[in-house]
Amino acid sequence: MWRIKCILSVSLIAVSLHLYIPTISARDVSFDSFVFSQQWLPTFCMHATEEVRIACKIPDMVKNWVIHGIWPESSKKPDPPAFCNSSWHFNESDIKSIEDELKIRWPNVFTSTGRTSFWKHEWEKHGTCAVDKPYIFNEKSYFEMGIKLNKQYNLRHIYERSGIIAVNYTSYKCEDFRNVIKKNWNVESIITCVHSKEHRQYILQTEICFDKSFKPIDCKRDQKCLQCSQKENIWYPPLENTATPDTCSNQQIENNFFTVGKRTPCKSFMGVCTYKNDNSGTSNGVSSRGYC
Ligand SMILES: *[C@@H]1O[C@H](CO)[C@@H](O)[C@H](O)[C@H]1NC(C)=O
Ligand SMILES: *[C@@H]1O[C@H](CO)[C@@H](O)[C@H](O)[C@H]1NC(C)=O
Ligand SMILES: *[C@@H]1O[C@H](CO)[C@@H](O)[C@H](O)[C@H]1NC(C)=O
Repeated sequence: MWRIKCILSVSLIAVSLHLYIPTISARDVSFDSFVFSQQWLPTFCMHATEEVRIACKIPDMVKNWVIHGIWPESSKKPDPPAFCNSSWHFNESDIKSIEDELKIRWPNVFTSTGRTSFWKHEWEKHGTCAVDKPYIFNEKSYFEMGIKLNKQYNLRHIYERSGIIAVNYTSYKCEDFRNVIKKNWNVESIITCVHSKEHRQYILQTEICFDKSFKPIDCKRDQKCLQCSQKENIWYPPLENTATPDTCSNQQIENNFFTVGKRTPCKSFMGVCTYKNDNSGTSNGVSSRGYC
């Protein structure tokens, strides 16, 4: 419940309207794991625009899943720690040197809010609670860890490699996404959906959980498909600024992702594609489903 509120109310409403929950002093701020949450902006912006009526724009440079946040969690308490150090204000100059990368990997997509408002919110609410040496020891290291995890847990790439592609003509089950994470990193993840007026459900978020040394672990919450109806399929809408690979030949690698010439989509391809990603050069992936 908290997480749903966090995603939909806090990120959409609090970030945009700067309605921050006041800090209560003398609380237990201990935690034992992290949730690394990544969002799929085509869903996020569709939802923001259509349901919540907040203007939203995906920057052209964005070609992948983006960071929502790194959130400390405690298995001993229902509510995760939040706003742990009210004197540790967000300071843009601390992250100036990584801002260009944050704009691509951790962007604020609400056009009516300040460029740094999302970062400020994530730092002050979650980052101040996530400080835990040696990995996160100040504001910059919090954001750097986000960038590192976003590169390492490159969702578009691993979903695509398993034939889960962001297109309008096919849809998936929650377990399809979770199985890809399981297969790649051997952990239980959490998928969150949102629903449109047309009663379709769309994938919004993928959460992967980590221990304090940033080793992936099973996410502990019982519910692993939040707001996703198990009976219905889940849509994974295309990112309009990138073509989706509908072929395994003729790929150009651009900024970590695949762009291909526009072709008429078809649904029966089974074959081997060669992919590149930003950390490890070339790897082979087998497409089990998806495109011709
Ligand atoms: C709170 O933030 C200040 C910086 O504003 C820092 O010096 C202090 O160590 C922080 N306190 C804790 C408990 O982390
Ligand atoms: C932000 O950090 C810079 C450099 O570390 C410092 O000079 C400045 O005073 C800080 N700004 C605020 C508002 O604390
Ligand atoms: C995919 O569907 C969404 C939502 O219905 C629509 O806004 C978008 O234009 C479609 N994209 C393509 C490439 O057809």
